[in-house]
Amino acid sequence: MIKVLFVCLGNICRSPLAEGVFKHLVSYEGLEDKIFVDSAGTSGWHIGEPPDPRSIEVAMENGIDLNSYGRKAISLDFEEFDYIIAMDGNNYSDLKNRSGSSVEGAAKLYLMRDFDDIGKGQDVPDPYYGGDDGFSYVFELLDRSCRNLLEEIREEHKV
Ligand code: 4NP
Repeated sequence: MIKVLFVCLGNICRSPLAEGVFKHLVSYEGLEDKIFVDSAGTSGWHIGEPPDPRSIEVAMENGIDLNSYGRKAISLDFEEFDYIIAMDGNNYSDLKNRSGSSVEGAAKLYLMRDFDDIGKGQDVPDPYYGGDDGFSYVFELLDRSCRNLLEEIREEHKV
């Protein structure tokens, strides 16, 4: 199993949406038995909570159900997962500090928009304090980035 973990701050807006979008693509390609997908937050503020209603709504508008519950990223995730995808630079630095500074751990860490051909390496902006249009914009970025990420994983692992 290839394991992919998406990480943001709260694990209720961006990373559950990324998880849902990526799972949808994985399932469309019939790869559910090859690729496992999860999400987590660098904070523990929303442990056990469903995604933000605005993330659920934008996902539903695009035919995607979100079914995750908030959890906090832990150092064991660096052993369990093959790809750890941070939504922004702050999440990335937080995770890097938690990787126990192992070279192996750090090598699994990526920025979501490393995979976006428009605005490569930029942050997925935090939509939590904004309006609904922020969530549509985030959906677009995630959809684009997730498609490229899946392509890259398929090439790398020949699946
Ligand atoms: P997320 O957004 O990191 O995309 O899940 C946030 C969710 C909650 C908070 C901040 C960002 N918060 O301050 O509770």
